Amino acid sequence: MLSKRTAMGQIRILSEQIANKIAAGEVIERPSSVAKELIENAVDAHATTIVVSAKHGGKSLISVTDNGCGMDRDDAQNCLLRHATSKISGIEDLGRIKTLGFRGEALPSIAAVSRLVLITRQPAAATGTIVKATGGVIESIKESAAAIGTSVEVTDLFFNTPARKKFLKSEGAEYVAIADVFDTAALCFPWVSFGLYKNEDEVAQYAGCDRLIERIGQIYDPRFAEQLYPLHVEKEGVTITGYIGTPDNSRVNRSGQKFFINRRPVRLVSLSWALDQAYAEFKEHDRFPVAILFIDIDPAAIDVNVHPTKREVRLLNERFIQDILITAIRNQLGEKGLFPKPAIKSLAGVEAANAASFRTMSFAEIREATTAWQSPEFPLHFTAPRLSNTYGAAPEGGQTAVLPEGNPFAITRILGQIQGTYLVAETDGGLALVDQHAAHERIVYEEILNAFKRRATPSQRLLVPLMMHLDLKEQNAMEICLPDFLRIGFGINNLGGGTFAVDAVPVFLTEENCTRMLQDTLHELMEERLPQAPEKREQAIAAALACKTRTVKAGQRLDAREMLHLVQRLGTAQNPHTCPHGRPTVIILSSQEIEKRFKRR
Ligand SMILES: Nc1ncnc2c1ncn2[C@@H]1O[C@H](COP(=O)(O)OP(=O)(O)O)[C@@H](O)[C@H]1O
Ligand SMILES: [Mg+2]
Repeated sequence: MLSKRTAMGQIRILSEQIANKIAAGEVIERPSSVAKELIENAVDAHATTIVVSAKHGGKSLISVTDNGCGMDRDDAQNCLLRHATSKISGIEDLGRIKTLGFRGEALPSIAAVSRLVLITRQPAAATGTIVKATGGVIESIKESAAAIGTSVEVTDLFFNTPARKKFLKSEGAEYVAIADVFDTAALCFPWVSFGLYKNEDEVAQYAGCDRLIERIGQIYDPRFAEQLYPLHVEKEGVTITGYIGTPDNSRVNRSGQKFFINRRPVRLVSLSWALDQAYAEFKEHDRFPVAILFIDIDPAAIDVNVHPTKREVRLLNERFIQDILITAIRNQLGEKGLFPKPAIKSLAGVEAANAASFRTMSFAEIREATTAWQSPEFPLHFTAPRLSNTYGAAPEGGQTAVLPEGNPFAITRILGQIQGTYLVAETDGGLALVDQHAAHERIVYEEILNAFKRRATPSQRLLVPLMMHLDLKEQNAMEICLPDFLRIGFGINNLGGGTFAVDAVPVFLTEENCTRMLQDTLHELMEERLPQAPEKREQAIAAALACKTRTVKAGQRLDAREMLHLVQRLGTAQNPHTCPHGRPTVIILSSQEIEKRFKRR
């Protein structure tokens, strides 16, 4: 056996080159990290125009050009050295960092794992400097003609660290990460003009503006910006400003939440939690509020030195910030005349027991519901036209209560709806509870899968096309899914610049708010990696769409006929037992079980 001493060998000081390569592993994880560091440097250099360009998801090229202060020849060389920074000079500066960078690690780290060309010129200088480095080794420094500012061009990222290169995701996924960094920076610095090129095509151009809300309109939809409420509070040295969404423009996940602390984008669970608390009684339980919030605090009250990418920070007065955020949001929502929604609780049993949200049908209502559709003169007042297509053709008058024989649950009679969420039905051998939302999701899911199989799906033209403006990440997901959407009967045209016009929808999705449904679907799909295999992707799209069609939700009152259609259609589904996410659609209580509970057995 080897002794420890011989196994470890002697301590040596690593060469600067190796040290940089190791450090690069921490700071530079993927092409988007390069974009982030270079954009931050440009902002620190007081640039007013920043252009980012990426090829092959940044794998072959990522460049950032700015019109900032530039560097002289010495600095252009020194900036590639480790711990070379113009931003702090001593330990006491760490407590008052105002710039985005301060470690002097980014450029040497990027240079260590790529081929890098830096061209820079100071405004007063007659000429500029061009520095070329490969794998961290400077190969040439020359005087050069140059525009004012700095341009850093990074090619062949990770060419000398194959292990790292292998772990990069697809070009599409890496591009999405760059687009995310780009949009986040654009939000952060509205006064700077930002341009983004993807494989030489211009994909975004945001002119510098005076106000954050204008920038939000450029990045997202101008209509989206109109629906936001401003938020501003100052308390004991903490300032929170930004915009919050109305409860109605919430999203299916947290993709609409952006937090910045001292203009640094951060992920902070504690702030997401505070948002959830603030909106708790205002929004639907499975949606997340939108918020773009800038928090300014004394730099001494945060520790940004926790993680090399500076993505994570530690807040010293977290509780206090949560409290003022919650109070400010609630005040703002209250001022806008919004009142908490009546609690429509989730399906969890514990909550169902909560007396406030528990609603049973009165005997009169049940009688009405059951006799109504047993009566031969069942009136044809079908109050929810959006359901008629979803459940197939509405049956002719004279409908009776009889359900198709041999339906998989042997349901014979629907007794009514409880809590606006479950249908209660009698079966051949007991009792069934149908989760209306899960059942409906299953039905729509199978409709969509069938539409994929059929190829030609009848669609309904819209009189007036609906316009959607998508941000860069949404655009990317849309571009991937567009052919699939078209196949199932959507009519969607890419008008360029992030604008899409929807002029037809599949007949089985008569959704009033189809742009919201599409956007929700994109949000869901964009968080996961979209499967490459067509069949898997179709399933993912069908599940997301089915879930986002808001036709039958938990909490929606259904009339007798609607309940009947729902159960009938579920009965003909290929797999009626679970929703696309695997939750059960129906719970059966057998008479034996009921008898047991009553101690009859
Ligand atoms: N785009 C730029 N314009 C002007 N100077 C720059 C630019 N990028 C980098 N520098 C200079 O190079 C130094 C090193 O940059 P970097 O390695 O990112 O470290 P840091 O930003 O932490 O100081 C900076 O402190 C700055 O002086
Ligand atoms: Mg930097």
